[in-house]
Amino acid sequence: MSDGQLTSPPGTHDVLSPASRLWEFLIGTFANEARRYGFGLIVSPMFEDVAVFHRGIGEQSDVARKEMYTFTDRGERTYALRPEGTASVVRAFVQHNPTPPWKAWYATPAFRYERPQAGRYRQHHQVGVEALGSDDPYIDLEVISLAWRFYEAIGLRRITLMVNSMGHAECRAEFVELLTAYFEENETRLCDEHTKVWSTNPLRVLDCKKDSCVSLVQEGPTLPASLCAECRDHFAVVTAGLDALEIPWTANPNLVRGFDYYTRTTFEFASDALANAQNAIGGGGRYDRLAEDLGGSPTPGVGFGSGIERLILALEAEESPVVSAVREAGVFAYVVDTTGGLAALTLTSSLRAAGVSVDRAFDRRSMKSQLKAADRSGARWALLIGDQETHGGYVTLRDLRVGDEGERQYQVPRADVVAHVAELQRKNSEI
Ligand code: HAM
Repeated sequence: MSDGQLTSPPGTHDVLSPASRLWEFLIGTFANEARRYGFGLIVSPMFEDVAVFHRGIGEQSDVARKEMYTFTDRGERTYALRPEGTASVVRAFVQHNPTPPWKAWYATPAFRYERPQAGRYRQHHQVGVEALGSDDPYIDLEVISLAWRFYEAIGLRRITLMVNSMGHAECRAEFVELLTAYFEENETRLCDEHTKVWSTNPLRVLDCKKDSCVSLVQEGPTLPASLCAECRDHFAVVTAGLDALEIPWTANPNLVRGFDYYTRTTFEFASDALANAQNAIGGGGRYDRLAEDLGGSPTPGVGFGSGIERLILALEAEESPVVSAVREAGVFAYVVDTTGGLAALTLTSSLRAAGVSVDRAFDRRSMKSQLKAADRSGARWALLIGDQETHGGYVTLRDLRVGDEGERQYQVPRADVVAHVAELQRKNSEI
């Protein structure tokens, strides 16, 4: 504990406006897209019985072993802050038993004790979806195409989609057996960390970014070769569907992803504008045994999650015009009232009722200071009310975007100003 100024914990961030406007834009766009695909919002607790994650994501996953925020509460129960969204959603499905196929979307913080660095945080935020109750490969395609359309809608252009299949339980077990034999023979070639721990979960070596593990994996057994006919068919429908939807993809036979719950389809979206280690902007896949692992009846599922911070980093790295357009879009109008403040009260109230986004100054500040605040607000128009305007029964409109080229201002009768500004805002939104 420090006696000095209190700040946010390492690896966490406060996001203030105008930076947070991008967050509003991303979450709003995701909500629209998810609704368009028939997903309904789920809100569930930020912490769960630690067993939800141990049984869900696997006790041997890196996240469960090294990164979970686990604590005992005053009632001696052991909980963990959610490190990801899927296990909690499936726990809620098992608990409430909604009619399948059940399609849920979420926007949630996730907590992982990572080494903080650019693009890797201890609290990050995800938007995501989960669809439970169908093993039809066309649901995999709905989930992947929803992600793709979302990325398109927010303006991302430089994205690579990688897909793979882990197979169902038996294919996966056969692959793990082959992998185990291979690593036993080649133990000296594993990186330092995996020399010690590979045998508890050999699949994790496939995620390792160290050169020694990467080259060893490249020469070893591959997942596609272990797939049974049914799993191969499932994967073929997914990839043919991606072609039919004209979503470009590449096969990545080593894409096992970091959690133990994945079966069959796995996929990941990378931003080509970001450095390699933190370039994953979203990922997901099928988890056909997870509901059972959490005490429910066998229910297949598929979903994906996408990191909001990474999406913003990717948009910035692409120098997307969306970033400045969204950040600069403040209120549309700003009322500058030098007559005391009552006129601003009634005018802002009528403008808001007419759907105009508008702000105003307080504390009876000078005209100059109010105009400065209007500029800072990002407003397109200042609506000036001084003594002259009050006596003349009009409002002066000043265009705040003309810059140094001179002033553009004109007067509108007070009785017409609300309709006039609403029309200006409507025309502006068409641009
Ligand atoms: P995940 O790949 O661990 O998957 O996380 C999803 C996304 O969250 C990543 O692609 C990345 O954009 C972002 N992310 C993850 N960790 C961090 C971090 N420490 N800092 C910043 N961003 C991060 C899941 O969480 C699965 N629940 C996805 C899923 C849903 N699978 C099936 N359904």
